Amino acid sequence: MALLEWSPAFGVGIGAIDKDHRAVMAAVNALQVAVEGGGDLSVTGPLLNKLNSDTRAHFSAEESLMTITRYPGTALHAMKHQHLLDQLDAFVARNKRDHASLNVHSLNFLRDWVTTHIQCEDRNFGLWLNEHGKR
Ligand SMILES: [Fe+2]
Ligand SMILES: [Fe+2]
Repeated sequence: MALLEWSPAFGVGIGAIDKDHRAVMAAVNALQVAVEGGGDLSVTGPLLNKLNSDTRAHFSAEESLMTITRYPGTALHAMKHQHLLDQLDAFVARNKRDHASLNVHSLNFLRDWVTTHIQCEDRNFGLWLNEHGKR
């Protein structure tokens, strides 16, 4: 499976958010490489934790910016973030319990979620932010 590659198609027009998105995509890629390399818990555990913490930090920064700028779509956007965080927590718990439960389906879910969310919800926020001149 090809790794995620950042391109201008993922740009949302806000430099700090694009930078975070590159980091989250890199964390998903690192996890994918580990899973494809056998998926041992000693390797996937720390990478999954890193993805989890990078994602939490990014969502928190994005939501703060939404709150500060009074973005009308904040509640729905934050709900979508929470859905992914719940799923990441479930992956962490299951991976610990089963030692190597992450697989191509987990990775596909993460890849789809991240790329779709960036290109839909995050892009909408970026457009709104730029239109309202509140960068
Ligand atoms: Fe988002
Ligand atoms: Fe984002």
